[in-house]
Amino acid sequence: MSANKAKRDLLSLQDLTSEEVLYLFELTEFLKKDKNQQTHHIQGHSVGLLFQKPSNRTRVSFEVGIAQLGGNCIYLGPEEINLGKRESVPDVAKTLSRYLSAIVARTNTHKDLIELGKQAAVPVINGLSDLFHPCQALADLFSIKEKFGKLQGLTLGFIGDGNNVSHSLLLGCAKVGMNMKMATPKNYEPDPEIFKIAQGLAKETGAKLTVTKTPEEAAKGADVIYADVWVSMGQEKEEKKRLEDFNGYQINKELVKHANKDYIFMHCLPAHRGQEVTEDVIDNDRSIIFDQAENRMHVQKAVLVFLLNKRS
Ligand code: CP
Ligand code: NVA
Repeated sequence: MSANKAKRDLLSLQDLTSEEVLYLFELTEFLKKDKNQQTHHIQGHSVGLLFQKPSNRTRVSFEVGIAQLGGNCIYLGPEEINLGKRESVPDVAKTLSRYLSAIVARTNTHKDLIELGKQAAVPVINGLSDLFHPCQALADLFSIKEKFGKLQGLTLGFIGDGNNVSHSLLLGCAKVGMNMKMATPKNYEPDPEIFKIAQGLAKETGAKLTVTKTPEEAAKGADVIYADVWVSMGQEKEEKKRLEDFNGYQINKELVKHANKDYIFMHCLPAHRGQEVTEDVIDNDRSIIFDQAENRMHVQKAVLVFLLNKRS
């Protein structure tokens, strides 16, 4: 079977226009409110979750969301498919395309995800790679919009690693006209190529994106203070060095004093209290971490409805 030309993937937020991002938020709002009428939207579709790394939120929110939309879900854990080892990526993609309507993949490398997308005849959705986490950033932006009633002109201060989550936030903020100030230690800056792409997008919406070494600068005047772990999945061997390098980048009571008075705290989770964030910040009433986690499900339902309806 040759690749289905009509199919769309969501490997990075570059795959969506600004208008599509805003449309997805409208669809999300509708699906979140309309609890009784959503059971048929992807009826008859089976979606595979092909995961090379562990997960709580991504797996559970997709599984429950798919069930709520009337679809069927098959979880394929790290030992099941053994992507690229037991079987080549193209063979996995082509085989799964004969059974499934869409593949949600959490891969070790973004390269494998691109190959999956290229070879699969069905939509491939990034459930986290080493470079991007688009479903997370979509849920985050939707959550911010819920809290502030808008996105354009707000400022997100990200303190931490220039990694998958912050890369997707850079692209997402640029697309919706939100400013993003990042503070990272030396050598943990975002990928220069991704930053350049985000800056190109930001020019079109008026968003300002900056990277600094100083956490206080990133927190200053921010509406949102955002954290990710210092040691991501797959980086466990670098733990000791990372904990040393990120010393001074903790989000604590003193740091959030630089943010706007009505700031909100966000974290993609899982969190390590006492490392990237203190308990008094993550567990107080300015923190919206569980709204974010819940919204993963609502946004991903919108993504599924959108991508599956795009197929012929
Ligand atoms: N935020 C997130 O993707 O969480 P999981 O790794 O638990 O899926
Ligand atoms: N940066 C983290 C995000 C987890 C959702 C990781 O890749 O482990």
